[in-house]
Amino acid sequence: MKIAVLKEAAGETRCAAVPETVKKFIALGAEVAVEREAGVGASIADSDFEAAGATLGIRAEVLKGAGIILTIGGPDPATLKGVEADALLVGGLDPLRRRDAIQGYAAAGLQAMAMEWMPRITRAQSMDVLSSQSNLAGYKAVVDAAASYGRAFPMMMTAAGTVSPAKAFVMGVGVAGLQAIATARRLGAQVSATDVRSATKEQIQSLGAKPIFVENVAGIEGEGAGGYATEMSDEYQKAQAELVSAHIAKQDIVITTALIPGRPAPRLISDAQVASMRAGSVIVDLAADAGGNIEGTVSGESVVKHGVTIIGATNLARSLAADASALFARNLYNFLSAFWDKGQGRPILPDDDEIVKGIRLTQGGKIVNERLTTA
Ligand code: NAI
Repeated sequence: MKIAVLKEAAGETRCAAVPETVKKFIALGAEVAVEREAGVGASIADSDFEAAGATLGIRAEVLKGAGIILTIGGPDPATLKGVEADALLVGGLDPLRRRDAIQGYAAAGLQAMAMEWMPRITRAQSMDVLSSQSNLAGYKAVVDAAASYGRAFPMMMTAAGTVSPAKAFVMGVGVAGLQAIATARRLGAQVSATDVRSATKEQIQSLGAKPIFVENVAGIEGEGAGGYATEMSDEYQKAQAELVSAHIAKQDIVITTALIPGRPAPRLISDAQVASMRAGSVIVDLAADAGGNIEGTVSGESVVKHGVTIIGATNLARSLAADASALFARNLYNFLSAFWDKGQGRPILPDDDEIVKGIRLTQGGKIVNERLTTA
């Protein structure tokens, strides 16, 4: 089985393989072909891939005879000429926003597998690209906030006087939020956090942060299918807004990560609440791509409102390309190796497997995933 690793489109720094995963695929009996300069953005030289046992070539060469194609963001179907029918295209394909491209993969006869639709089950944890990339994004959000903040995070007692610690508030305590709490604590901030899922209260406390939660309101349990959040009642949203208003005025750093699958991101902070913060405060909105948690967020940009910097963070994992590539590449390897049939020398993907059903988008020239055919 030949595995092709593509060079990503401009703007994408990550690479879907690293020398470690190349070696592991070769140990499974596969052969790996990497498109030239695919690893440059992640500080991996062509010679590093060669030393790991891969061959290098231009796109047409690496695609020729490949039964598996690995990608971070999904190539333009027009660049896949000469691809083998029924080859697996595996990566972050962003199916809901790239419907034309998915149609193009179907027309090319590919089996497109969208890693971001991995079901949230224990067996799939090591294959979860959303988790691996969100974890890095949560860390980077705090580092970026610290870089924009004109004050220090930790308390410092110096001969010239005491510097008080920064107060950081994390809204949305999923994978990114938990890492943001841990990072802000490591930098010495006083950290508090909130979420709609009450299960997160204990997690917040175990990281040494203070939970800020709406109590005594109907519809308080915000956990829905697959561990994701649900949209909350009007009564809850009102109570949350009041609680947040009182709290936010005293914060220096706010990191928001709140997402609801398939819906725009919930609006957590209004312009008036931003105005209540001290000048020089910094907000990082990790939900910027999904519409933003903050009124006034501009996706991909940093804006100043009422003296407060609002960073509309998009894909922060890209700015940690080496680590992000290594984790993404391991997610891909963990998925493919879990289904690898040593006898046949290739992965066998059973139609009735929960993981396969969740992530397979196209097969036999058609779009087959229910989330695309019914939406
Ligand atoms: P996410 O990225 O979908 O959302 C981020 C956070 O925002 C969530 O904690 C959500 O509850 C919160 N949120 C949504 N609306 C909010 C609101 N109005 N106010 C405040 N917070 C709000 O979530 P993520 O990071 O993907 O993780 C959610 C859960 O799923 C976690 O418990 C995580 O451990 C679990 N998970 C399990 C996996 C597995 O078992 N394979 C893989 C990935 C995550």
